[in-house]
Amino acid sequence: MKKFCRNSETESKIDFLLQQMTLEEKAGQLNQVGPSPVGGFEISVEEKKKMYEEGVISKEEYERMMSDVQWDSQEDDVRAGRVGSFLGVCGSICCNHLQHVAVEESRLGIPLLFGMDVIHGHRTMFPIPLALSCSWDESLAEESSRIAAAEAAADGIHWTFAPMLDIARDARWGRIAEGYGEDPYLTSRFAAASVHGFQGDDLSNPDRILACAKHFVAYGAATGGRDYNSADISLQTLWDIYMPPFIAACESGVATYMAAFNDLAGIPCTVNTYLLQDVLRDKLGFEGFVVSDAGGIWECIPHGVVADRREAAKEALMAGVALDMVSRCYIEHLPELVQSGEVPEERLDEAVRQVLRLKYAKGLFDNPYTDTSKYDQVVLSEENRQMARNAARKSMVLLKNEGVLPLKKDCRIALVGELASQGKELLGTWNLYGRGEETITLPQALENRGANYRYVPCCGVKTPLDKEALRSAIADADVVIAVVGELEDMSGEASSLSYLGLAGDQNDMLRMIKESGKTLVTVLANGRPMAIREAVDYSDALLEAWHAGTETGNAVMDILFGDYNPSGRLTTTFPNSTGECPTYYNRVPTGRPASTVRHTCKYMDAPLKPLFPFGYGLSYTQYAYSNLRVKVEQDVISATVDVENCKDVAGEETVQLYVRDVVASMVRPIRELKGFCKVFLQPGEKKEITIQVPVSSLGFHNRDMNYVVEAGEFIIYVGHDSEAELCESIVLNFES
Ligand code: GLC
Repeated sequence: MKKFCRNSETESKIDFLLQQMTLEEKAGQLNQVGPSPVGGFEISVEEKKKMYEEGVISKEEYERMMSDVQWDSQEDDVRAGRVGSFLGVCGSICCNHLQHVAVEESRLGIPLLFGMDVIHGHRTMFPIPLALSCSWDESLAEESSRIAAAEAAADGIHWTFAPMLDIARDARWGRIAEGYGEDPYLTSRFAAASVHGFQGDDLSNPDRILACAKHFVAYGAATGGRDYNSADISLQTLWDIYMPPFIAACESGVATYMAAFNDLAGIPCTVNTYLLQDVLRDKLGFEGFVVSDAGGIWECIPHGVVADRREAAKEALMAGVALDMVSRCYIEHLPELVQSGEVPEERLDEAVRQVLRLKYAKGLFDNPYTDTSKYDQVVLSEENRQMARNAARKSMVLLKNEGVLPLKKDCRIALVGELASQGKELLGTWNLYGRGEETITLPQALENRGANYRYVPCCGVKTPLDKEALRSAIADADVVIAVVGELEDMSGEASSLSYLGLAGDQNDMLRMIKESGKTLVTVLANGRPMAIREAVDYSDALLEAWHAGTETGNAVMDILFGDYNPSGRLTTTFPNSTGECPTYYNRVPTGRPASTVRHTCKYMDAPLKPLFPFGYGLSYTQYAYSNLRVKVEQDVISATVDVENCKDVAGEETVQLYVRDVVASMVRPIRELKGFCKVFLQPGEKKEITIQVPVSSLGFHNRDMNYVVEAGEFIIYVGHDSEAELCESIVLNFES
């Protein structure tokens, strides 16, 4: 683990400050103020009223909330040392103004920390993280995080609440959009890359920002895919599936963690001593600080584990949450809790120390202000746009192609679907400062190319199908490109869905085009795996483009016209229907492995296989795997395979290695991704590729919760996706 904060000089400075600070000033350092500085985050006045009328909050709580809505100027609280950080405040002039109040007008001059959700870009927007993960190229995560950091830092931001590292196996959960998919190993590689992209090697670098590993932990295991729901999983599943990306983030020196909203097996993460002390501090050696999620401390009241805000403040601090994101429970109750002796002052001091350490590490005491001339120089530069375009086309996944792609340069195109031109929608969820008008939409991309096209929306996610317009639009076309999918607010937070098919009349539009006999190329712009069986059947070609950011249109056309040979591979399983959720590749076999036999683990009314499996993706060429050799030397398994490009188009293949532990003391997944690498092959070229896997990575947490690698047979699969059949068996024995 990297220890980025502790040095004796800083510790002495912190000691000196702590000696001078009042209890309220100490609590102030743990108080993060946000756009909704009361109770639950982003709860409108009307919703607060409804919560009171439905008995979710007490009369006292409701009256207090309402009084806060008219809360005075935040400057007064900064000046009084009652605020240590802001959420959602942005703009170098605005941040510098508030910083000046803190540094020049408060008693101790402790600088503020400005935090923001910079999830997949700040002004230049990159593909949503789920899309980016389909590139299987973590260097894109590092580079896009670096660019996002530079743009956000120029805008006054010191700290992002990213990367989001929640493993997601249920597409009904809208936040599947924000993570890197269903696999722990791939997500761990992206975690390390993203943390380093945001933070760099020197936290005080003014072009870098602190990162935050969130949501700690197992938020993606929410029952039923319903956001904020309970996560009731075994300790083995916690450690083998949900923990690895957070361990990778810690090993990469991530500065902060965010406690998740959910309870984990009955204890809310915000007050979960096992997670925040035993795991994070004692086992992982984490040195930074933990921030609650927005209002998360207050939410322990509706969780039903504390009676009021005072108790919430006490339990959260004692469990290990240092910074209170916008609930104000800390600033209101910690001074009195310490005075009463219920909270030892040493615990308060430790939390303040953790926050001050990072403010020193960020260089805020020496350089508290942002250079206001930087923003216009760095945002949306041509270099940033090119990076966004490159990341977007590498994130897109070709799901079907019946020989119609790539398109001929001079073909007559009818472009339909409202989403094609909705710049803001194409930026995706958690876009805070990207501007829709700066997105290269699909019509613009066609215009840029001088293509022979006609664009008529005809139908949208919420706009009914105009059949007459559609008939007219496609009449003279050689090819119809139809854009369907989701609006940006249909995935992300508070966006759980009970139906994963295309909304509205979108399927009707595709069916009409199919029935017209025209060649149909469907482009999917969405934030989650969808049950698109009909769209697949109607389409001659189908490109999963995702919500791919500022350069979506150019990236789509780069692929459709063959300027880029699609290389994306799915990192989440696509279900045939919503009823199959949760569905994921690394499932256990059960005593009745799914088969055509009735009494086996399957649905009677669904195919045995998913619509598209983890790792799946087509190319304009074909890759052949042969001659797999596997050997074990020392503590490393080496799998060597020949990969050949069998057609006349150069392309980049992602070679994937999966492992199965055939017999173990606990059930083990039928496949687990344990290695992957990318290889570029010219037409007809064959290369020998070796992937090495440490034997230590083949382990799991056994019934005694010990991490063990057990002797016995392992099957090594190498190929194009999680259903690869080329395999070799090896036997591990540990007789020394
Ligand atoms: C939200 C999200 C969290 C985000 C925070 C601040 O509720 O759960 O991911 O960082 O609030 O916006």
